[in-house]
Amino acid sequence: MRQANSTANSPLSTRRISPATNVLGSLRLPGDKSISHRYAMVAGFAEGTSHLSNFSSGADPHSTLVCMQQLGARVEHQDNGVIAITGRAGAFATSTAALDCGNSGSTMRMLAGLLAAQPFSSTLIGDESLTRRPMERIRKPLIAMGARIDLTDGHAPMTIHGGPLRGLDYATPIASAQVKTCLLFAGLQAAGVTEVHESVHTRDHTELALRAFGAELTRSKGSVRIEGGQRLRAVDAAVPGDLSSAAFFLCAAALFPEANLVLDGVGMNPTRASLLDVLRGLGVKLNVLQLSEQHGELVGTLQVVGSPTGLEGAEISGALSAQLIDELPVLAAIAPYTRHGVRIRDARELRVKESDRIALVAKNLRAMGAEVEEFDDGLNVPGNQKLRGAEIDSGDDHRIAMAFSVAALRAAGDTEIHGAEAAAISFPEFFDFLDRITER
Ligand code: S3P
Repeated sequence: MRQANSTANSPLSTRRISPATNVLGSLRLPGDKSISHRYAMVAGFAEGTSHLSNFSSGADPHSTLVCMQQLGARVEHQDNGVIAITGRAGAFATSTAALDCGNSGSTMRMLAGLLAAQPFSSTLIGDESLTRRPMERIRKPLIAMGARIDLTDGHAPMTIHGGPLRGLDYATPIASAQVKTCLLFAGLQAAGVTEVHESVHTRDHTELALRAFGAELTRSKGSVRIEGGQRLRAVDAAVPGDLSSAAFFLCAAALFPEANLVLDGVGMNPTRASLLDVLRGLGVKLNVLQLSEQHGELVGTLQVVGSPTGLEGAEISGALSAQLIDELPVLAAIAPYTRHGVRIRDARELRVKESDRIALVAKNLRAMGAEVEEFDDGLNVPGNQKLRGAEIDSGDDHRIAMAFSVAALRAAGDTEIHGAEAAAISFPEFFDFLDRITER
């Protein structure tokens, strides 16, 4: 029987998740967080008015919108849900106040690239979690392009003294789409050519967005080149549904042999879609019912059908870890329910996300009674384990709150997710959507 609201009596920041018996239904997901950030920034920089539909409802991309307004772009939230952004044609206005990036590493790192070439100083600040995250990774190459950037021990607050930049040939030592984006945004305004080489092909939304807004860039295996001095023109674009948000429901469906869930309008950019391969490897049946392209981004309808014989196991390492970085917490959280467990390596970056996700996943799995082995760069979660409902610490990290809400669906007894409101950073509708598709 369907329970109307599994969270009814919980205080605002704690959500109670009861075990479920199946996952069924269909959902249309809000816009992708990564693409929303990029469209907002590129539209704010471009000439003319862009109209963005299905923009992410998450708090993070809204931090980006507020920064764009502070920098002089006009941002209008229309009644039909469309966000109209009138850009600055390459010349931002000085912001008198600090630019507050909130919890959003993407906002801080990517915006730094746009601001490094602007002829004024800007200060970027963030919340406690963002202030702990490493920023040296963008400062170093931006300095090599001629920018002046002040940090405190490699962290925010970040003051950018913008000015003329020169192109740079740079191999990113850490696989990071945020660093790549920062350098492409700076390169767009630099003298000469900027070329970024990466050993792992990270998400390419920036390359696609820049092209959609009229820039030319050249891509070859492992690198992307952009010539400075290009102008961008406004476009009207729809943001595809967020596959990293869909991941929670795909994994929830994977837990039930009779699950049948359809997700509409989901972004399926191949640089984001490794999760689908991992889920297939676990034994889940995934059907792509429809596929189209919007401004270079693939968008489709995805059907997930549970595995009647249960879930196998997975080994995730090397480039795959970087490409799956945002989906690793939920894969680790469902790992005890697999037959052979999940081993994750080469994922040290998880320690410097919104929380130390390796430590928090291990702590919360243990709270649910699971055995788990923690490594500096990953986790081993053995399979064939039974979990019990427990008190979960989200660490104010959206992906931890959502990952353990999924693990709770097959646990014995209720689970309380403390700090559940963190989900709103990327996915404010998460708990309502989870209620809609779970049978109890
Ligand atoms: C993102 C890139 C990833 C990811 C983050 C969003 C992006 O970060 O974890 O949630 O939109 O470019 P890194 O580039 O630091 O790996």
